[in-house]
Amino acid sequence: MSSYAIGRAKRIVGELRVPGDKSLSHRAALCAALSEGISRLRNFSPSLDTERTLACLRALGVPIEIAEADDGLAVTVHGVGLEGFTPPERVLDAGNSGSTIRMLAGVLAGQPFESTITGDASLRRRPMDRIVHPLRLMGASVRAREERYAPLTIRGGALRPIRYRLPVASAQVKSCVLLAGLFASGTTIVEEPVPTRDHTEIMLAEFGAEVSVAEGSISVTGRPRLRAREYRIAGDVSSAAFFIAGALALPGSHLLVRDVLLNPTRTGFLDVLRQWGARIAIENVRRWHGEPVGDVRVVSSQEARRRAEPLVLSGALIPRVIDELPVLAVLATQMPGGMIVREAAELRVKESDRIRATVENLRRMGAHVVEYADGFAVAGPQPLRGAEIEPEGDHRLAMAFAIAGLLAEGETVIRDPEVAAVSFPTFFHLLEQIVER
Ligand code: S3P
Repeated sequence: MSSYAIGRAKRIVGELRVPGDKSLSHRAALCAALSEGISRLRNFSPSLDTERTLACLRALGVPIEIAEADDGLAVTVHGVGLEGFTPPERVLDAGNSGSTIRMLAGVLAGQPFESTITGDASLRRRPMDRIVHPLRLMGASVRAREERYAPLTIRGGALRPIRYRLPVASAQVKSCVLLAGLFASGTTIVEEPVPTRDHTEIMLAEFGAEVSVAEGSISVTGRPRLRAREYRIAGDVSSAAFFIAGALALPGSHLLVRDVLLNPTRTGFLDVLRQWGARIAIENVRRWHGEPVGDVRVVSSQEARRRAEPLVLSGALIPRVIDELPVLAVLATQMPGGMIVREAAELRVKESDRIRATVENLRRMGAHVVEYADGFAVAGPQPLRGAEIEPEGDHRLAMAFAIAGLLAEGETVIRDPEVAAVSFPTFFHLLEQIVER
């Protein structure tokens, strides 16, 4: 399949579960590998990105079994502890996955052998100096192409603890330093300018590390003994976001997504929808391993169209909506007042330049959009017309514009739809099950 045609939909109706959260799955695999004993990870993400993390861990000598189960992918990790990794025979390949390369680099920095990690063309264009710098401060030897890009060649060992203030709000960089901190003698402290997703600190504590969090700074004590455990991964809220957006925009829709990860560092998207007047109910809230989980019920509503002022997203909200901004831009075309996004320059260094690619694809659909260095402005409400969409190898663009296709007059063709598998291999399949035409 090299293109996917999608027409205007009447509404979205149904009840579903989405696969396990990608951010949690990467971290669960890493924590389980670093633990002593056998961990069972349930509802592990079936994404290509998390497959890369598992493949890299296997190449470092971690035995891993993967099986289909009733409640999603079951991954069994035979943890090797902090000291049990073995030198890889080949270059480690993180594929398209920024989380794999940045988080695993923190573990590689603690190893007494040299390893090289790289990725696909997109990943090799993304900035890695943000991890090279703190890992060098901790005493690891790190070589990077042009001091900034993958491949990264890392040799580490016993590291020094550091106090590090993140120059960019990035959970991947925070996680890299915290994971390297496990190999340091003493307490490593990371300070965040604004809060980013806090799964690493929550999960390290669940696996038995000594972690403390206070007012924007996260500390981890080095050389812990992590304990293997069973871990059930909640549904990926960033995957659910596409369907929730579609249900909100199509009158007469009602959708229930069960067992969704609802960590507040990830749910900025739901807050934005509520500011647009959306009726979203969170039901059955529970905690799985320190992470809030619930069922999300969304009913399309006319109230969602009342607002007249543009919604402005900036500042501390940005990390909480960072992966949902392309689909929010699509939705904004349907909302009176539209939306302005600023202070989101990080979007330019994601899997694609998501500012330019979102703006260009919206324009292909006839939308009026303004591009800024650090964001965009989408006028609304305005009609979309079917167009050929170029996702530029970026999974979230392919899926965001599939939702745009449901709202547009005429046919929309998504090129390279298989790129959705980077985070959500069953996206188009599930979409077909809930869309009524
Ligand atoms: C992620 C952090 C974010 C996000 C990415 C996943 C994570 O990236 O965009 O999809 O799991 O830590 P940054 O750390 O680059 O902001």
